[in-house]
Amino acid sequence: MKAAGLAPGSWLAVLGGGQLGRMFCMAAQTLGFRVCVLDPAPECPAADVADRHLQANYDDPVALAEIARTCSAATTEFENVPAEALRFLARQIRVAPSADSVAIAQNRIAEKSFLRGAGLPVGDYAVIANAQDLLDAPASLFPGILKAARFGYDGKGQVAVAHRGAAIAALAEHFSSDTGGVIECVLERRIDLASEVSVMVARGMDGVLGHWPVTRNVHCNGVLATSTVPSLVDPDIEAAAIDAALRVARTLDYTGVLGVEIFVLKNNSILINEIAPRPHNSGHWTLDASVTSQFEQQVRVLAGLPLGATDLLVPVVMLNLLGDCWKATEFDRSAQVDPAEPDWSAVLGEPMAKLHLYGKREARPGRKMGHVNVLGQAATETVVRIAQRLGASY
Ligand SMILES: Nc1ncnc2c1ncn2[C@@H]1O[C@H](COP(=O)(O)OP(=O)(O)OP(=O)(O)O)[C@@H](O)[C@H]1O
Ligand SMILES: [Mg+2]
Repeated sequence: MKAAGLAPGSWLAVLGGGQLGRMFCMAAQTLGFRVCVLDPAPECPAADVADRHLQANYDDPVALAEIARTCSAATTEFENVPAEALRFLARQIRVAPSADSVAIAQNRIAEKSFLRGAGLPVGDYAVIANAQDLLDAPASLFPGILKAARFGYDGKGQVAVAHRGAAIAALAEHFSSDTGGVIECVLERRIDLASEVSVMVARGMDGVLGHWPVTRNVHCNGVLATSTVPSLVDPDIEAAAIDAALRVARTLDYTGVLGVEIFVLKNNSILINEIAPRPHNSGHWTLDASVTSQFEQQVRVLAGLPLGATDLLVPVVMLNLLGDCWKATEFDRSAQVDPAEPDWSAVLGEPMAKLHLYGKREARPGRKMGHVNVLGQAATETVVRIAQRLGASY
């Protein structure tokens, strides 16, 4: 079935006004659409560029009704919006991805059992709802990582646990709920990784499925540091990663842009780490090095337009810029003034580097403030140079 495309000038809504929402706005406006952002934060990154900012909670009935009245379609920039908000909107306007897909991706337990049920490779894990579950967990899961089932990002809500005793202590210390119980978790075995890759997939309203080239990702302290394409991992691993990512999209009957994070093991097999029902940090390179960026693709899907080509135009390395690059001096701290802005000539003096800043007012350690895409054969060396000058992890 061919879905009708929305005309330029139509309003699109995005739930969430972080950097992903901001880059969605820019891509939508380039195609002539107008964008309404829903985000409770007054100074969220997308508010600077959106045509309209509804400053309200994601489950605010008045704001959702206003979106349904004024917008033709809605999407989300992160998986932690209440699936119910998307269900409400979907009764009145086009919504992609579906509430059901988002509901799976926002809960590690639902996500892992979905992947397992679909016959996709997932690492060993146990669902932990109380200390007894930890006592019952197989010894093979240690050393492991305890991860909150919901609301984790950039490694937050995760604790490395060397052995069962440490896990029991960590559960009490880090995962207690407001009601005195325990926040639901999964315990994963700590895997000895050969590398990490991801595959960004897009599936249109017409069911057409596309994917970008495999990306190789390096994390520092649980946060993405660099993404490199071509990945230069074994072609068989690339093929398996793409096959797994496409199967996730088909099994979910997914519409929209989907990120699939994959662990590559030392024995050359793969495991799916997690899925993101939206553009993903490891797809930011597509802004400068692909025919169609992941954000333009998100707009195209939402507007019922055909997918754009996903070919790589030029080798690329993306470097994340965290708040750590904004160096607070002793003077700044004592005077309580903002830390110094990095010296952007480190990036702008490199002709093949493309700087993207998210307009965040406050730089905090670990906070994603922007990224750089470095293009060309010398991208890796250039990224090292930039990272050293800015004091960025890579
Ligand atoms: N079981 C594991 N074994 C080895 N490394 C792991 C494991 N789980 C997580 N990691 C490392 O920590 C990183 C972040 O983990 P995960 O993707 O679960 O967290 P997250 O909070 O959802 O992060 P993000 O939002 O960046 O995707 C992984 O990319 C990987 O480098
Ligand atoms: Mg992750």
